[in-house]
Amino acid sequence: MASVPFDQLDGEIWYNGEFVPWQDAKMHVLSHGLHYASAVFEGERAYGGEIFKLTEHTERLHTSGEILGFKIPFSVAEIDQACIELLARQGLEDAYVRPIAWRGSEMMGVSAQKNRINLAIAIWQWPSYFDPEQRMKGIRLDMAEYRRPDPMTAPSRSKAAGLYMICTLSKHRAEERGYADALMLDWRGRVAEATGANIFFVKDGKIHTPTPDCFLDGITRRTVIALAKQRGYEVIERAILPEELEGFEQCFLTGTAAEVTPVSEIGPYTFTVGEITQNLVNDYMAEVQPKRAAAE
Ligand SMILES: Cc1ncc(COP(=O)(O)O)c(C=O)c1O
Repeated sequence: MASVPFDQLDGEIWYNGEFVPWQDAKMHVLSHGLHYASAVFEGERAYGGEIFKLTEHTERLHTSGEILGFKIPFSVAEIDQACIELLARQGLEDAYVRPIAWRGSEMMGVSAQKNRINLAIAIWQWPSYFDPEQRMKGIRLDMAEYRRPDPMTAPSRSKAAGLYMICTLSKHRAEERGYADALMLDWRGRVAEATGANIFFVKDGKIHTPTPDCFLDGITRRTVIALAKQRGYEVIERAILPEELEGFEQCFLTGTAAEVTPVSEIGPYTFTVGEITQNLVNDYMAEVQPKRAAAE
């Protein structure tokens, strides 16, 4: 998969209501979404042929568009149906689902009042299997230079393409320095999240996670909080300062792509992959299994 560029994969892409051959799903270079980042997207995952929390993702896509001042011209039910149909037409069971909405080419300037809102959905193979031994070693995080912006500065509740510019910069810098990812602070200097995943810590048997007041309140984050509470763990959502990192015993990331990924290091601080983290890794993997199979 890694060696074939994404524009050269096979299959179909759902594009403004039609299924088109994968390699024909093109947009013009004078698209507002490309020049001014007027685009919102989702990242979803199918396990065993079922997209996990599909409607929640589609609703967030709609909300992200509204925050950027546009209405996606397909209903949540229509988009859900398109995703389900495309997954079947692609013949995939374990896959990544990427809907994206963007402003088109009708006007080319900061103002884009008349631009069409386009929507495309692509689905590609993404095995759910991971090597448990490798995952349980935990990943290493760098400290990012960039901070999550003040909600008065950027539409931070939207999964907007423009907000990922600082994520790519931070992730590249971390990778160049030998880390897997980076921990971003927020505009106030508090612990926020990684470049594409939320963060949790464990101390004295309790789980601590930053309040999502200027970054995405991830669907995985909310799922994992519910799973933790089902196990009777106390989950404390609060402001977390970087000085506290030294005192935490365990750390893990949550996200559609990351699932529950243990963290072994953040800069100079080290963490163990303890029982709470291991239980939540396993509980999450059980939770994402298709409900259809569970009902059989
Ligand atoms: C910046 C950022 N934070 C958090 C998340 C986790 O969100 P979710 O669990 O809904 O995938 C993601 C992934 O979409 C992300 O890109």
